[in-house]
Amino acid sequence: MSEARDYTRESETLDNCDVEAAYARWAPIYDLTFTAILKPGRRAAAAAASKADGPILDVGVGTGLELPMFEPHTEVYGVDLSEPMLRRAAQRVDRESLRHVAGLSKMDATRMAFADGAFACVVAPYVLTVAPEPEAMLDELARVVRVGGEIVLVNHVSRKDDPLAILETWLDRHVAPKLGWRPQFPWSIIGDWVDQRADMQLVERRLLPPFGLFTLIRIKRLPVDVTAQPQETPAEPEYA
Ligand SMILES: C[S@@+](CC[C@H](N)C(=O)[O-])C[C@H]1O[C@@H](n2cnc3c(N)ncnc32)[C@H](O)[C@@H]1O
Repeated sequence: MSEARDYTRESETLDNCDVEAAYARWAPIYDLTFTAILKPGRRAAAAAASKADGPILDVGVGTGLELPMFEPHTEVYGVDLSEPMLRRAAQRVDRESLRHVAGLSKMDATRMAFADGAFACVVAPYVLTVAPEPEAMLDELARVVRVGGEIVLVNHVSRKDDPLAILETWLDRHVAPKLGWRPQFPWSIIGDWVDQRADMQLVERRLLPPFGLFTLIRIKRLPVDVTAQPQETPAEPEYA
């Protein structure tokens, strides 16, 4: 059984109800807990997305911690499954007068109410590890990004040689539904998905601070007629 298939089977224990329940619990303390440690990834994602020439979709916008990091000239839409998280994002938009935020909506990122190719860039910082069906979410992100546009992900990606791997496996088996995300996330989930999609190309895979715990991943949507060329998936990055 492949790593990705194995993950899907294990992840049957985490569903959208678990995610909503977990983020209803996290919402009041989310900023206190996750502002600093996840900041470099949010900054990297917002910087990459701000280069897009057109509207940006922030999937799993949460309490909106990355919203002030997009350049003022951008036009950003945010969606999230969790109403308590979204309420905090809306308060942030008002409080900080974030005029580049064009809209926030409650939506499941595996079935969104946007037209095909509606966005020049789709960002999803720290969201894929939360999704019970990450491939279904990737398919939907690919549907709403236009040809030439990018999907920008930030995620913890498990490494087999990592001393944390044993802890990740234990947490994954015992507390993932309560936590609201899966501590164990093999690269093959993303790598296999890209390899199977003729219209997707991995353009960047970069380890981020702190300590290379998270990875920035940029995937470009190609016009279908140039996809015949073989892709070269970059090797696992080193964190210096
Ligand atoms: C770890 S938080 C990340 C929030 C924000 N991007 C950040 O950097 O702080 C993950 C968010 O993804 C949302 N989420 C999980 N599954 C989702 C889905 N299927 N559709 C939309 N949002 C989802 C959760 O509700 C939560 O707010």
